[in-house]
Amino acid sequence: MGGPLVLGIETSCDETGAGIVRGRELLADSVATSMDQHARFGGVVPEVASRAHLEAMVPVIEGAFAKAGVRPADIDAVAVTAGPGLAGALMVGVAAAKAYAYALGKPLYGVNHLAAHVAVDQLEHGPLPSPCVALLVSGGHSSLLLVPDVTGSVEPLGATIDDAAGEAYDKVARVLGMPFPGGPPIDRAAVSGDPTAISFPRAKYHDGTLDFSFAGLKTAVARWVEAREDAGSPVPVADVAASFQEAVADVLTRKAVAACRQQGVSDLVIGGGVAANSRLRALAAARCEQAGIRLRVPRPGLCTDNGAMVAALGAQLVSSGRPPSSLGLPADSSLPVTDVLVH
Ligand code: KG4
Ligand code: ZN
Repeated sequence: MGGPLVLGIETSCDETGAGIVRGRELLADSVATSMDQHARFGGVVPEVASRAHLEAMVPVIEGAFAKAGVRPADIDAVAVTAGPGLAGALMVGVAAAKAYAYALGKPLYGVNHLAAHVAVDQLEHGPLPSPCVALLVSGGHSSLLLVPDVTGSVEPLGATIDDAAGEAYDKVARVLGMPFPGGPPIDRAAVSGDPTAISFPRAKYHDGTLDFSFAGLKTAVARWVEAREDAGSPVPVADVAASFQEAVADVLTRKAVAACRQQGVSDLVIGGGVAANSRLRALAAARCEQAGIRLRVPRPGLCTDNGAMVAALGAQLVSSGRPPSSLGLPADSSLPVTDVLVH
């Protein structure tokens, strides 16, 4: 397979990612995480994350080159997450990308992290249908997007009005005494639980919008667990996890299908860390099949933050002839989802 050879760098949160792709072919995906250093705080500490990126950056990038079997001089471009994310963490990645681009004399592409979560699916399932609807669910964002062209045209259809889905997972995990990030342990605990055991609220279920709200659900879980503890009763952790997870997956998939119907679109792609969730994947598959919608979800390792997703979007920007970013590229912690490429 041909196409531009691109190095992608991702540092928006706690993962230091470097990926190398050739067109839509994944050659290497190297990731280091500072999660262990944040776990005892119950959330990512920005300054700790920035410092860890600095230490991990060069080994992770060199690891990616070694794995891909290509030399730095061979690449056609460097892509980097310019936002949204933690300001200091983003700055480390952007500075590294500028250094590589300048030293190698290659163009630099500052890309949107959220668009990259959507673009990564192409490494596995080929070109994105145009248009498609994207359900983007991560630790910081929960959005429904109409994507006529992931390299330039991404339109918001709806978003969470409070907590992101991943944030709700992380907070509920804390209530249940599970480690951070909360998605994977809740996903595992839910396997042996009954998703119908507790009827947790599904906010905005019937409101006719494509927006979400997860703050009330998180609070409802916390109150339910507290009430059990106050009564001196054991907390049925697996049932709470399964019932919470069911509420999240139910709302997300219902609204994603509604978005496709409203837009007359028959292709849905799900991306972001929460897309790794087993129940979300299964329920989305069932509901899409019922609704005649084709579903695409990257394998779990490509759903959570990584450098390959940045490289994938970068390669597509190069292929579609977009002008590169300047070496003055800023990191923008609140980059809007509509800005796919930053100059
Ligand atoms: O996309 P991501 O890696 O980072 C951000 O861009 O935020 O998403 C991280 C989020 C965390 O909240 C984490 O708990 C959640 O994704 N997550 C999951 C699973 N794996 C990661 N949530 C539910 N089930 C999972 N298996
Ligand atoms: Zn992400």
